[in-house]
Amino acid sequence: MATERTFSIIKPDATRRNLTGKVNAVLEEAGLRIVAQKRIHMTQAQAEAFYGVHAARPFFRDLVTFMISGPVVVQVLEGENAVARNREVMGATNPANAEPGTIRKLFAESIEANSVHGSDSAENAATEIAYFFAGTDIVG
Ligand code: CMP
Repeated sequence: MATERTFSIIKPDATRRNLTGKVNAVLEEAGLRIVAQKRIHMTQAQAEAFYGVHAARPFFRDLVTFMISGPVVVQVLEGENAVARNREVMGATNPANAEPGTIRKLFAESIEANSVHGSDSAENAATEIAYFFAGTDIVG
């Protein structure tokens, strides 16, 4: 098993309810180390670019509106198989389908306001990390 990095976002529904620390506790208990983190308010252009892969999906406009509706916390997580481990601990996109103990089961409000984002591959993780962080921002 390899140590790798993944990209994570704590979404506006979670920051609004002051859940950053609770989400981070679940991540840390799952063996992931937060090696970079900052709270930002995404611009519309940033959200549209970040979710560009979903531009043709019917939920795209609502997703962008939601992601700029309040602050988010962008993060780099490090650990053994961090991409897969983070997806496991996040739970299914739709909280109704998420396993007990996962972040989305514990905290998500809906399929859109689902509290966290996590990269779906190591390749996308590298792209997403570079979108928000310089190499010198990441301290492992
Ligand atoms: P995320 O992992 O950030 O990637 C795309 C996001 O689109 C997803 O989480 C959800 O928050 C949001 N979304 C809204 N509606 C849907 C849907 N019907 N299917 C998948 N994702 C959706």
